[in-house]
Amino acid sequence: MNEHKLTFFIYTMGCQMNVYESEMLNMYLLNYGLLKVQNIRNANIVIVNTCSVRKHAEQKAFSYLGRLIKYKNNKIIVIGCMAEHLQLQLKKRFKNIDLIIGRNDTNNMKRTVLTIMKFLYQYKPNYIKNVYIKSSIIRYLAIAKGCNNYCSYCIVPFVRGKEVSFHYQDIFNKCTFMVQSGAREIILLGQNVNSYSNHGVTFTQLLRKIATIEKLMRIRFMTNHPKDLNDDLIHAMSVIPKICPHIHLPIQSGSDKILYKMNRKYNYEQYINLINKLRIAIPSINITTDVIVGFPNETEEDFNKTLNAIRKIKFGKVYVFKYSQRPYTSASKIHDNISYLEKQRRHKIILEESNKISLALASQMIGSTQEVLIDKLNHNSIEATTYHGYKTFITINSTHNNIHIGQIINVKIINIKGTSLFGNTILNE
Ligand code: 5AD
Ligand code: SF4
Repeated sequence: MNEHKLTFFIYTMGCQMNVYESEMLNMYLLNYGLLKVQNIRNANIVIVNTCSVRKHAEQKAFSYLGRLIKYKNNKIIVIGCMAEHLQLQLKKRFKNIDLIIGRNDTNNMKRTVLTIMKFLYQYKPNYIKNVYIKSSIIRYLAIAKGCNNYCSYCIVPFVRGKEVSFHYQDIFNKCTFMVQSGAREIILLGQNVNSYSNHGVTFTQLLRKIATIEKLMRIRFMTNHPKDLNDDLIHAMSVIPKICPHIHLPIQSGSDKILYKMNRKYNYEQYINLINKLRIAIPSINITTDVIVGFPNETEEDFNKTLNAIRKIKFGKVYVFKYSQRPYTSASKIHDNISYLEKQRRHKIILEESNKISLALASQMIGSTQEVLIDKLNHNSIEATTYHGYKTFITINSTHNNIHIGQIINVKIINIKGTSLFGNTILNE
């Protein structure tokens, strides 16, 4: 029955914004009658959504594109950040790529899908349906695009452009729509959600409005910038139960010298003050962060300041990255004088230390009862997320086979593996 339908496969690399944009693209293509396939071998069209934030991500995309050569019958489309700034290189290196769609289109997925339709069918539909086929329980939603911060190491402002906050009413309507089609948790996305501003509506006001959507149970957001996270937001987090006690607040470094060179516009003391405020207002908050090791001229002393910050703050999770020089950025003009081996050593130390802390924090939850939102159901396990943001795998107790996706249930945490929690469901009598 489906033999005349074109099939597609999307491979997504990089950040949540890319995941979100791939979801949108997926929805639009389904709405146009294309068929999604799980196996790349069955795909007529392969779309690669790329990332440029670190050199490693670009190298991964290059090798993925290289491997695609063997699927000769596919149409290959490249979108995302590399499609924006490496068009020529991609065209030269990979003759098998059929279409490259740069930033001007990927920042607007409607335009991207119209470009794809024109390429596939030689016609450009003049309208686009906005119908969610089936919504998953947890959904991403971009509230802004681009970034104005120009952290000295970061390519994002150059590939994604200046910050633009989307219309608040449009965001609210999209949230309502997502909830109507099954979503129960929405994660709002922006490079810096704290600087959101549209027609005088601030981020916190937007959150308050979204929290009024009845069947929506949980709201999260990312990423936050310490220089813009204000008391109004902290207060809203402490009084609106739907806003999860979870914040991703990248510290990047514990050394004031490096923070200054990174153009982060805060110092360690200011960061700690924010953490204290958050913990006073929301005692159970799970704070996660990003760290870069091996920024140019990072001495052992600077590095130790970062390590000590991690020990002191006790993040729920630290995403640690080895500095890599990116084109266009101001840091790319500074000699990258820390060897790869040294970056690797610092990376390993931070990772081991932060994993120990994550494990200790998660272990404290053993024996407690946590509210979890059921995200996925497999035959013998349930995947769920705690209110604080930990992924939880629950062993099904055979008497509880009436659990369904989207439900919030109480779980007694009994064990922990890695940073995943395991538990037993508790009947809410
Ligand atoms: N090198 C290493 N890590 C980087 N990040 C951004 N740019 C670079 C770079 N040039 C990290 C930051 C950011 C995360 C998304 O990626 O920690 O918060
Ligand atoms: Fe990059 Fe800094 Fe903007 Fe984040 S805030 S996207 S690190 S420039």
